[in-house]
Amino acid sequence: MSTSPCPADQRKARREADRNHPAYEWELRGTQRVLVIRDFGLGHAFLRLPEGTRQAGFGAQFTPRTRFMNPPTLFNDGPAHREQRRAAARFFTPRAVTRTHEPMMVDLADELVTTMERQGGGDLALLSFRMAMAVVAAIVGLTESDPRGLESRLEGFFETAPAVGKVPLRTMVRETAIAQGRVLRFYVRDVRPAIRARRAEPRDDVISHLVAAGMRPQDIVIEALTYAAAGMVTTRQFIPMALWHLVEQPALRERYLAAGTDERLRILAEIIRLETVAGNLLRTVTHPLRLEHGERAVDIPAGTLVDVALRATNTDEAAVGSCPFTLDTERTLAPKIPPAGMAFGAGAHSCPGEYLAMHETDILLRRLFRNEVTIEREPDLAWNDLVLAYDLSDFRIRLTPPQSSS
Ligand code: HEM
Repeated sequence: MSTSPCPADQRKARREADRNHPAYEWELRGTQRVLVIRDFGLGHAFLRLPEGTRQAGFGAQFTPRTRFMNPPTLFNDGPAHREQRRAAARFFTPRAVTRTHEPMMVDLADELVTTMERQGGGDLALLSFRMAMAVVAAIVGLTESDPRGLESRLEGFFETAPAVGKVPLRTMVRETAIAQGRVLRFYVRDVRPAIRARRAEPRDDVISHLVAAGMRPQDIVIEALTYAAAGMVTTRQFIPMALWHLVEQPALRERYLAAGTDERLRILAEIIRLETVAGNLLRTVTHPLRLEHGERAVDIPAGTLVDVALRATNTDEAAVGSCPFTLDTERTLAPKIPPAGMAFGAGAHSCPGEYLAMHETDILLRRLFRNEVTIEREPDLAWNDLVLAYDLSDFRIRLTPPQSSS
């Protein structure tokens, strides 16, 4: 480990309350006892537990569990969850991404960036949203509705009440009713037309596959929503964050633009390690359990809410090496630590869309960097308390054609 002092903290997205120590700690949030985990090894071991935990983030408490609806991938567990993952996996393999989805993503990036070039620049947060939305819509199969309407319906899902802490019954009932109204609109406007079109003529997308597997419409709508939301809400944030760092670090940008795919993806992985989009992964413990990692052991009673604090785990020196708050693509990671840390989760619920998201980001960034990119207005940075992620908006950039940049 280096003994020279570390450069300043380079993170754009950090919260006052963020801490890296202690490794774990019990907190009281309202009336709820919460176990916060900040140590990478402990968090990783917890997320990889084969049983005894249930998803508690992303509005899980507003998603009623009834026999009329199967839980979507994100909220499901056990053999049924493994089957859902297995069935959808083929849409997200590196091969599917590079062979099937890449041409669509290149066309989209071309179309969006060309429009922005004509205007000399614009709002990158909006451009990223459009890109992330359109990619996910194509892969899921949400292609029969007006894209702007789909955008606003999906946006609505993230205006729900915060996910942390015990929620009063009245709030729970109200939020559940609002969420159900949104689901119904999403079904009628976006999913039902897609199902009808695929019954008539199946295609190679997630909805066609769910229809062919005999899934009921009410289950298809929730699964489609999960993929659309999970893929869109995160990637749209990472694209502007990555560009922000690359514009500010010309040497890194030069290297990124000259590098082959593996090195480019490695650079993006280091950016997302430092600026993990999802900040906290929440689980409810359903059976009393003992969590062990190295020297540490924690007894966790049933009913505990566990908060794996990813901004802390991803900057845990023991896992990601010295100077964890700086962007260093040459850093020495501890054995078996992925370059992105736990930015894409770990264990049974880890992100199936990781390769797609990184590839999509890479395609759009390289298309943008065919221009000289200048930041006209740094984005506003807020926090989305439902998905526990940062939220960048109003990020104005200027695009200047390369020939006039000398
Ligand atoms: C930069 C972009 C992305 C980030 C940072 C990200 C992050 C994550 C994280 C941290 C989880 C784990 C949640 C948990 O354990 O509670 C997750 C799950 C998931 N992600 Fe992503 N994701 C991204 C892009 C995508 C894309 C593009 C898709 C697909 C279109 C996608 C689909 C999913 C799904 C379906 C799950 C739930 C998996 C399960 O529960 O088994 N994600 N993502």
